[in-house]
Amino acid sequence: MTSESHSSPQRYQTAKGFCLTSAFWMVVATFMGLLGATELIAPDLTANIGWLAFGRVRPIHVNLVLFGFVTPGLLASAFYYVPMLLRTELYSEKLGVVTVLAWNLALIAVVLSLAKGFTQGREYAEMIWPIDILIVAVFSLVFINMIMTVARRKEPILYVSVWYVCAGIILTAVTFSLGNVIWRPDSGSLTGIPDAILLWFYGHNVFGLLLTPLSAGVAYFVIPKACRAPLYSHTLSLFGFWSLLVVYTHIGTHHLLQVPVPTWLKVISIVDSVAMVIPVMAFLINIWYTAKGKLGQIHADIGAKFVFTGTIMYFFVSIQGSMMALPDVQRVTHFNNWVIAHAHVGVLGFAGMIALGGIYYILPRITGKPLYSKLLADFQYWMILIGVVGFTVVLTIAGLIQGNAWLNGETVYRVLPQIHMYYIARASLGLIIFSSAIVGLYNILRSMFFDSGETS
Ligand code: HEM
Ligand code: HEM
Repeated sequence: MTSESHSSPQRYQTAKGFCLTSAFWMVVATFMGLLGATELIAPDLTANIGWLAFGRVRPIHVNLVLFGFVTPGLLASAFYYVPMLLRTELYSEKLGVVTVLAWNLALIAVVLSLAKGFTQGREYAEMIWPIDILIVAVFSLVFINMIMTVARRKEPILYVSVWYVCAGIILTAVTFSLGNVIWRPDSGSLTGIPDAILLWFYGHNVFGLLLTPLSAGVAYFVIPKACRAPLYSHTLSLFGFWSLLVVYTHIGTHHLLQVPVPTWLKVISIVDSVAMVIPVMAFLINIWYTAKGKLGQIHADIGAKFVFTGTIMYFFVSIQGSMMALPDVQRVTHFNNWVIAHAHVGVLGFAGMIALGGIYYILPRITGKPLYSKLLADFQYWMILIGVVGFTVVLTIAGLIQGNAWLNGETVYRVLPQIHMYYIARASLGLIIFSSAIVGLYNILRSMFFDSGETS
């Protein structure tokens, strides 16, 4: 890896813009999560207020965590490390700033349209056609900036992080268009079973071809840097990259094991879900061997600490995911809070943690001054860790109660009183995560615009 180049005022505007975008939307997204969790405890709370109905709050929460908090957070680091690894400047900071503005415009449109009830009703593809176009456009703008930077590079070798970010962005632009059936603006869907298959091809690729490669890119950058050690194996890193592309793209149908899709497709999705252990372990072995004996350095760097914890969460969510794709297991875990637990370990524990880690790692480097408060960042780390581990325990128990009851023929409504207290625990933990998002926004704003603070 090349040496770090430090900031001049004009540089890193795009990275800064994505840091702010991520920190701001994390607050809004977690607030919507907390609101949804509260509504599940007290459904009458927002009765008759259409735009606050659970069915609208939930997709706003989910789309904001994915496209408002996590993806921009991961992109912030990418806009710092890609030029640095290629020993060149970003192709165009102006284009980057326009992208940040357009990205935020799209997010505002997402919130307003979903709150008003404009939805295409397909998970992760709820947004209506004009917003889909805007989202594809912003991904394309990111890709142009990245690929032009690659084209103008002075460093001949493409480090694996660059592979991950370029692939993640262009593949997402394509799978997003496919999954949103963008050639049918009126419905945004096919009909019948093919629609479900296509939707979940895209739905799983949000995690497999967007969050995972972008997170891996950040981890491959931050961990060797923080450990001041070379990557354990470049060959293994490229093996992990290609095996991820080959295996992850086949597993979407594991969301449809209870649905009459062709059996051969289910078999492929199950086999490849188990085969996911190959890219997952290739990545983790590489990162963990790089960090072997250097945990002290990781502990001392708050950004690396977030990132490293994210890799541990990746281990758990992936092993869990492979098991959830087995039909006998899914018979109990499908359609209940078990999956919600898994979703939060993946999107928050793995990708969200790494997004925050990347932000805290690059902040001092793009501002040219220390983090405003390492203490507050550490506080946020612990709050999120407690929150996500708590979510996992509470929702997994609730899911097992639901899954076993339904397997035994119990009706849905009779199980609700039994899981009520777990919903209260989830909302309480949600309050912790929401508070930590406010702390994070404050810390990032202070680091960027005000004095350099007391610790670091
Ligand atoms: C080896 C890797 C993984 C495998 C095999 C896997 C498997 C699965 C399966 C089988 C489901 C469907 C459960 C059901 O509906 O019964 C699921 C859902 C989900 N997974 Fe994973 N998973 C993996 C990794 C991840 C990662 C890394 C993330 C996040 C970055 C993630 C996020 C999610 C989310 C959000 C859902 C819920 C989707 C929904 O129904 O809305 N998974 N996963
Ligand atoms: C204040 C903290 C949070 C609370 C209270 C919360 C609560 C919720 C609730 C109530 C749902 C809907 C569950 C259902 O339909 O039964 C949900 C879904 C989801 N949340 Fe959160 N959430 C929080 C933070 C986050 C964060 C930070 C992320 C990611 C970075 C996240 C990712 C997701 C995802 C991906 C889903 C969809 C899960 C699925 O369909 O399987 N949440 N959350």
